[in-house]
Amino acid sequence: MTPPVLELRNAGLRYRGGAADVVRDVSLTVGTGRSLALVGESGAGKTTLLRLLLGLARPTAGSVRFDGDELSLRDRAQLRRFRRSVQCVFQDPYSSLDPRRRIGAIVAEPLRSLGIDGRAGAVPKVAAALERVGLPADAADRYPHEFSGGQRQRIAIARATVCDPRVLLADEPVSALDVTTRVKVVDLLAELKQERGLTLVMVSHDLSVVASLCERTAVLEGGRVVEQGDTGQVLGAPAHPYTRRLIDSVPRLPS
Ligand SMILES: Nc1ncnc2c1ncn2[C@@H]1O[C@H](COP(=O)(O)OP(=O)(O)OP(=O)(O)O)[C@@H](O)[C@H]1O
Ligand SMILES: [Mg+2]
Repeated sequence: MTPPVLELRNAGLRYRGGAADVVRDVSLTVGTGRSLALVGESGAGKTTLLRLLLGLARPTAGSVRFDGDELSLRDRAQLRRFRRSVQCVFQDPYSSLDPRRRIGAIVAEPLRSLGIDGRAGAVPKVAAALERVGLPADAADRYPHEFSGGQRQRIAIARATVCDPRVLLADEPVSALDVTTRVKVVDLLAELKQERGLTLVMVSHDLSVVASLCERTAVLEGGRVVEQGDTGQVLGAPAHPYTRRLIDSVPRLPS
């Protein structure tokens, strides 16, 4: 059996100088081509969990595993495979793009930093990545300030997918966007998932986005996973009172 592409085994994290663990005894697996949502109230540890999965933070207990092996930042060959396989998109499409660089250079950045392509080799891949996210090829010659929030998030997604990663980790990728733009970016993520078999791990406060994009959902409270399973089950018939409160706190239109 192939191992899960990403896995946390009893992972814990306490920030240096922190009084308590902000992630506690978390175990979860992400299978290739699958999708997982992380939900929970502000401060529950969702971003911290993504940072662990990205190798940006190291667990102070338990382990993070990639393709079945413990992620070790000292294993350069593994780290290279990992960086190429696992990419990320963040919430704020304004601060995540360097305003002084052209879109072409921004999107090409992973190809260069991973040593996959030089300047010339990157050009067709950048054009293909921009096309995939629905931006015109001439976007490459322009600067971030010439684009709207939704377009910038597309640019961030183009950058994250230009090296053909297997996994995309996304922290609130649509929460800074207005409702119609949000729908379009959600559709784009669904398309990447379906057509390219992209594995998706996503943090979102928007449970309707979670329900439409992710097969599985893990609910975090105070750094612990209180419930995880099939999204329909978790959101439709929550077993844990915290999940029920979380669902009830979502504003709904009066019917
Ligand atoms: N660099 C840091 N140093 C110390 N504590 C931190 C650090 N980053 C986060 N924390 C703490 O860890 C806890 C979890 O934070 P985290 O950012 O993971 O929450 P979150 O679920 O992503 O919240 P939100 O929905 O508001 O983004 C919080 O109590 C936060 O104060
Ligand atoms: Mg967060």
